Amino acid sequence: MKKGLLLLVCLFPVLTTSAQESNIKSSVQDVEAKVDSLLSIMTLEEKVGQMMQYSGTWDLTGPATGDQNQYREERLKQGLVGSMLNVLSVDATLEAQKLIMENSRIKIPLMFGYDVIHGHRTMFPVPLGETASWDLEAMEETARISALEAAADGVNWTFAPMIDISRDARWGRIMEGAGEDPFLTSRVAEAKIRGYQGDDLSNPASIAATAKHFAGYGFAEAGRDYNTVHVGDNELHNTILPPFKAAAKAGVATFMNAFNDLDGTPATGSKYLQRDILKGDWNWDGFIVSDWGSIAEMRDHGFAEDLTHAAEIAVKAGSDMDMEGGAYETGLVNLVKEGKVDEALIDDAVKRVLRVKFKLGLFEDPYRYSDPEAIKKINFDEHRQVARDVAKKSIVLLKNEKNLLPLVASAKNIVVIGPLADDKDTPIGNWRAQGEANSAVSILEGVRNAVGKNAKVTYAKGADLGMGERSFLKPLKINTTDKSGFKAAVDAAKKADVVILALGEDAFQSGEGRSQVNIGLAGVQQELMQEIYAVNKNIVLVLQNGRPLEITWAAENIPAIVVAWQLGTESGNAIADVLFGKYNPSGKLPVSFPRAVGQEPLYYNQKMTGRPSNPTDVTYSAYTDERNDALYPFGFGLSYTTFEYSDLQLSAEEMESGRNIEVSVKLTNTGSKKGKEVVQLYLRDLVASTTRPIIELKGFELVELEPGASKTVTFNIGTELLEFYNANKEWAAEPGQFEVMVGGNSKDLKTAKFRLK
Ligand code: BGC
Repeated sequence: MKKGLLLLVCLFPVLTTSAQESNIKSSVQDVEAKVDSLLSIMTLEEKVGQMMQYSGTWDLTGPATGDQNQYREERLKQGLVGSMLNVLSVDATLEAQKLIMENSRIKIPLMFGYDVIHGHRTMFPVPLGETASWDLEAMEETARISALEAAADGVNWTFAPMIDISRDARWGRIMEGAGEDPFLTSRVAEAKIRGYQGDDLSNPASIAATAKHFAGYGFAEAGRDYNTVHVGDNELHNTILPPFKAAAKAGVATFMNAFNDLDGTPATGSKYLQRDILKGDWNWDGFIVSDWGSIAEMRDHGFAEDLTHAAEIAVKAGSDMDMEGGAYETGLVNLVKEGKVDEALIDDAVKRVLRVKFKLGLFEDPYRYSDPEAIKKINFDEHRQVARDVAKKSIVLLKNEKNLLPLVASAKNIVVIGPLADDKDTPIGNWRAQGEANSAVSILEGVRNAVGKNAKVTYAKGADLGMGERSFLKPLKINTTDKSGFKAAVDAAKKADVVILALGEDAFQSGEGRSQVNIGLAGVQQELMQEIYAVNKNIVLVLQNGRPLEITWAAENIPAIVVAWQLGTESGNAIADVLFGKYNPSGKLPVSFPRAVGQEPLYYNQKMTGRPSNPTDVTYSAYTDERNDALYPFGFGLSYTTFEYSDLQLSAEEMESGRNIEVSVKLTNTGSKKGKEVVQLYLRDLVASTTRPIIELKGFELVELEPGASKTVTFNIGTELLEFYNANKEWAAEPGQFEVMVGGNSKDLKTAKFRLK
C-alpha cells in the first residue's frame, strides 16, 4: 500500500471521531445556550411550574389526590406544570399539550410520563423474567419496541428501567427489576436505556428513560414495601449504586428517587444521594423526579413538618420534580421569596428539566408524539414474534429427571391442569401499561397450538387462585377453601400420559404493594399438586411467577420443573416451544430460589462471616433446621443438552496494576442437542481493606454449540473489574490474591487464582 494512502486510512477514523465529537460538543453547547436563554425570561412561578408533575385522572398508580381537574386545567393554561403522568393516547396528550401551547406565556411543552415497564401494548416478560434470558440484545430490542408503541400513544418518557437490586423474594417489586446481582443489573440497565432512548432522544420513536428508585428501595426491611432500609456505605456503594452509576454513564435522561428511608434519611430528602453522588461525583446532567408523593410523604416519615418544609428539604437535597405531591406547588415560591431557598437551586432544577425537553425535540415540535398515524404504522405481528422469541429465551428449566422433557411424540394423551393453565391474564403481569387484560396466549392454548391433531389435550382447572376483582391498586383475594374442581382434575390426571401442571402466582400477587410473608404456592395449589401426584407422577410443573417461590416439596418430588415467570403476550406459545423441544431452554436464574422463606433475604454473593463453618457444634453461621444455600442458585438453569467446562487457564499468575489478565475456558456440548449456555465469570477478592463477598459475577457470554462442538471462551479481566468501594471510601483495586471462577451457575465452578501486584 502506498504511504499516502496508508496515512489517509489511518487518519480517517480519527477525523471522523473528532468531527463527531465536535458535532456533539456543538449540539451540547447549543442546548445549553437555549436552556439559558429560556430560563432568563422565566418568572419564578413559571420556573417552579416546571418542577411539578400531575397525574391524569385515570390509570392511577398511587393514592389519588382528589378531583382537581378544573384547577389543574387552569395551571396548564398558565404554563405552570412541567409534566404529566398517566395521560394516555394521542388525543389526550394533544389536548393537554394544546392547553399549554395555545394559552401560556412562554409555551414550554409538557413531557408525558408513563410506566412502560415490560411492554406498552405488546407485552414482554416481566423484567425479572426477561433478565433470565441474559440476552442483552433481546432486552434492548424489547425496550426499543416498547418505546415505539408508547411514543405512538403520546408518551415520551417511561419510568423504567427499575434497577433496584433486590434480594428478598417477599418484596413484591422484585418482579420489576433485574434481580440480585449488581453486575448483571448494570448491563441490563445499559441495554434498556439504549433501547428506550436510542442514539438520539429527538427521534420521535425514542422516549426518555428513568433509572429508578434512587436508592435502596429494594432493601426494604423484611421485604415489606415502602419499609425502612438499613444499609451502610459499604453496601450502598458496592451493591446498590453500581447499576445507577452505569445508568448515569449510559446517559439516562432522568432518575426517580425513592419512597424509603435510607439509614435515617428519606431517599427523597437525601442530599448525599442526589446532590453529592449523582449530580456531584457522577456529574450527571439530567433531572430527578420524585416518586409518587414521596416529597409530601416526608411528613409521614417524621422528617418534615408540613408540605412547605418537605419542599425545602427536597429541593435542597436535589429533587427536581415533584410527582403528584403538591409540595413544590404549595411551598417553593414562598420559600424563595422568604430567602429560605436560593433561587439558584430552582434555576439548576429547571435547567435540568428544560435540557431533557430540548433533547427530546419538544421545542421544535411539541406535537411530535401526537401523530394519529403513528400507531397505524406499527407492525404488531412483528412485535409478537419478538415477544415469543424473548419469552422462550427467558424460561428456566430447573429440573428434568429422566429427560421427561422435551415431551415426545409418544405423549398422546396430555392433560393440562391448574388455575393458571388457561389463564390469559396472568402472563400479562403487573405494571402492564396498555397491555390488554386477558390477551395473552394461555398455556393450554400454546399446548394445543403445538400438538395440533398429534395428541389429545384435555384441560381441568382444578381450582381458582385469585378471586374477585383484580386491579393495580386493590388487594387480591386468594382462594383458600374451594377445592370443588379437584376431583375432575384428579380423574383427568389418572388417564393421562403426562400432566402439565400450571401453578404459581397471579399477576397481581407481585408488583408494587404486593409483599408477602409466604412465598410458597398460594391458596390450595400445593394440595392440588399433591393430589395429582398421588395418581400420576409424570408431571411437568410449569410455574408462572413474579418472584422466587418456595417449592421445596416440588423440587423433591416432581420430575420436571419449568420457571415461566409472567412471559407476556405470547406466553403460552413460548412455553410450548420449550415443552415440546422446539426451543432448547437456555434461561438462568437472576435470583436465588430459597429452600424456605426464613432464608430471605437470600443472595449468592454473601460475605463469609467470622464463622463460616464448624463441623463439631452449632456455633457457626447456619440454621439448625435448614441448609444455608439456595435450593436453586443464582445463574442456574438446565438445558436439554449438557455442557462441560474444561481447561480453565489464566494468561498470567500475576497482574500488574492497570494491566489486564485473560482467563479462558473450554466449553463443550457433551449432549445430543444443539444448545445455548450462559458462561459466567465470577471473582473473589480474598483479603481486602473491607470484607468482600465470597463470589461476585464479573462477566458472562452466551454461547451456542452443536452437539459435540467446543468453543474456548475468553474473558478479559481489567483492573476496573477488581475495584470496589474500600475502607478509604474510594473505588480502587487493592493488591493481593483473587480467585477466578467460571461455570454455568454460581455454584458449580472451575477455579484458579492470580495475584494483583
Ligand atoms: C412507583 C413508581 C412509578 C410511579 C408512577 C409509584 O408508586 O413507585 O415506580 O413510576 O408510581 O406510576
